[in-house]
Amino acid sequence: MRQKIVAGNWKMNLIKEEAQSLTAEIVGMSNDELGTNQNGVKLILCPSFVHISTIKSLFKNVKNVHLGAQNVASQAEGAYTGEVSAEMLVSYQVEYVIIGHSERRQYFKETNQEIAQKIDLIFGNGMLPIFCCGETLELREEGNHIEFIKNQISESLFHLPASKFEKVVIAYEPIWAIGTGKTASSEQAQEIHAAIREHIASKYGQEIADKTPILYGGSCKPSNAKELFACADVDGGLIGGAALKSRDFIEIAKSF
Ligand code: PGA
Repeated sequence: MRQKIVAGNWKMNLIKEEAQSLTAEIVGMSNDELGTNQNGVKLILCPSFVHISTIKSLFKNVKNVHLGAQNVASQAEGAYTGEVSAEMLVSYQVEYVIIGHSERRQYFKETNQEIAQKIDLIFGNGMLPIFCCGETLELREEGNHIEFIKNQISESLFHLPASKFEKVVIAYEPIWAIGTGKTASSEQAQEIHAAIREHIASKYGQEIADKTPILYGGSCKPSNAKELFACADVDGGLIGGAALKSRDFIEIAKSF
């Protein structure tokens, strides 16, 4: 059985007190209330860098809630003003790093090659990547979206040995669905998730492909999570806007 995951990508939202109360509301719930006992879902909270230490301190004795970051530098250390290294993140017990988010690709011009370097630093420091891929509306309309997504995956991840690749979490996030209120239909999501799994199988074999969690992201909310998570190849969600309200986030986590 594949690990089910619901990860909250808080993006550049919430001041300290807001981040603290959102976290407290989530970690203050029992595993029964979170639904993690019933469906085995793993929750990951990905606050902004500045909140990581505060959020981690609220995690005491909480099972099934994990800490993630939203980015990491592509260099190990040194004169890179404003950047945060993988080694720094792991020193705060960060376990996961969202990598290659479309907003990073679009606004900060991250390339597949740079993302590959970040992936190596994430693994090199004992953390795990949540690797994002996804197409623009234009690419979808041209019919080139599946090739585009496969290429994102090949160029950033396929240099990994199987022993590392089998720990990768993938998030398929169609850019046209992120923050727009437009969600991919469950058929559209399933089609791409299945294509991604097939692509992984062609490189690493069916067993590893069958083990890789593939999350859906893009306007996922309590009202559509059930239908999306019911798809055979959808193993959870990377949640933006709806992760900023504990009630919505938990309801999504209970949608399996
Ligand atoms: P959204 O964002 O849920 O607000 O669409 C998802 C994401 O960008 O990870």
